[in-house]
Amino acid sequence: MYQPSNSRYNTMTFRRCGQSGIVLPGVSLGLWHNFGGVDTLSNARDMILRAFDLGVTHFDLANNYGPPPGSAEENFGAILHSDLMPYRDELIVSTKAGFGMWSGPYQDGGSRKYLLSSLDASLKRMRLDYVDIFYHHRPDPQTPLEETMGALDSAVRQGKALYAGISNYYDPGLAARAIEILRSLGTPLLIHQPSYNMFRRDIEQNGQLDLLEKEGVGCIVFSPLAQGLLTDRYLDGVPEDSRAAKLHGFLKPDQLTDERLATIRALNNIADARGQSLAQMALAWVLRHGAVTSVLIGASKTSQIVDSVGALENLEFSRDELVAIEKALE
Ligand SMILES: NC(=O)c1ccc[n+]([C@@H]2O[C@H](COP(=O)([O-])OP(=O)(O)OC[C@H]3O[C@@H](n4cnc5c(N)ncnc54)[C@H](OP(=O)(O)O)[C@@H]3O)[C@@H](O)[C@H]2O)c1
Repeated sequence: MYQPSNSRYNTMTFRRCGQSGIVLPGVSLGLWHNFGGVDTLSNARDMILRAFDLGVTHFDLANNYGPPPGSAEENFGAILHSDLMPYRDELIVSTKAGFGMWSGPYQDGGSRKYLLSSLDASLKRMRLDYVDIFYHHRPDPQTPLEETMGALDSAVRQGKALYAGISNYYDPGLAARAIEILRSLGTPLLIHQPSYNMFRRDIEQNGQLDLLEKEGVGCIVFSPLAQGLLTDRYLDGVPEDSRAAKLHGFLKPDQLTDERLATIRALNNIADARGQSLAQMALAWVLRHGAVTSVLIGASKTSQIVDSVGALENLEFSRDELVAIEKALE
């Protein structure tokens, strides 16, 4: 039987999620890649338990994570039940619905019908009574926002989710409306989950981060390492076991242009001078913004989780370092 480390809360930094009662670890773990039916269950288990030993209390899923879709939730449920159920009250488990999932007309989008049936299916796969956060995974222009937000409110009132979240709502106007509707329903929006990293900065530039801060909504940033580009992974080519080399990986080798590699090398030199790995510097850079509650990392090995959590040891940047990073990104 798994015995968690007694020192698991000694070094983790927790940050308040907006103006809610919840804090999240500075680094959270997502199960999008490397936890599905095509992956090795023992490695998935090792990564989850190592993360928990390091104080990572938040695990992020979605109905469609795998492949095949649903299998990451099944695997996570199996690991929870073999090892982590005694610690359920120490965990924040999230899932989402919003991308295509099964067949027929009610398996995608933002309808009440899809969201609530998908949440039931997620709970069954994970063998849980409730998730901590239930997200609408992406905006659906075909469905009235009132219906989608109403479904999140219902999930909370039914006790199947403790908090409501939205993801990929990049238009600050749309996010503001979602915040307003949920507030009027009495289920304030806990958190937004957008992508943000050195290569993708729209939420910093379009006022989204300022909006979340002003409204007291937390922000957990996905793909803070640009799926592995902002690490030392591709400095010497494309390793066989990397995401870019996998057929089902969402990172495609053509994203590794010569120009991008030159930028990654320049950033790697700055990280070196700070005494950090490039992954650590990329995560610290995202966390420099006060509106960001947590960075939601992925991993294929326990060593990457150890390295990434180590980012929290140095989140400070000098002015010169920030200027050098901007110059590298030009
Ligand atoms: N809401 C949404 O629409 C959405 C979309 C995407 C992701 N997400 C969430 O965000 C989570 C993270 O996304 P992501 O996996 O793209 O995040 P990421 O942290 O940007 O990329 C993770 C990949 O980077 C590499 N890596 C991680 N740590 C490393 C380290 N310390 N040193 C070297 N390489 C390292 C690994 O690549 P290799 O596999 O090549 O080793 C790993 O699989 C997902 O699991 C999911 O929960 C949400």
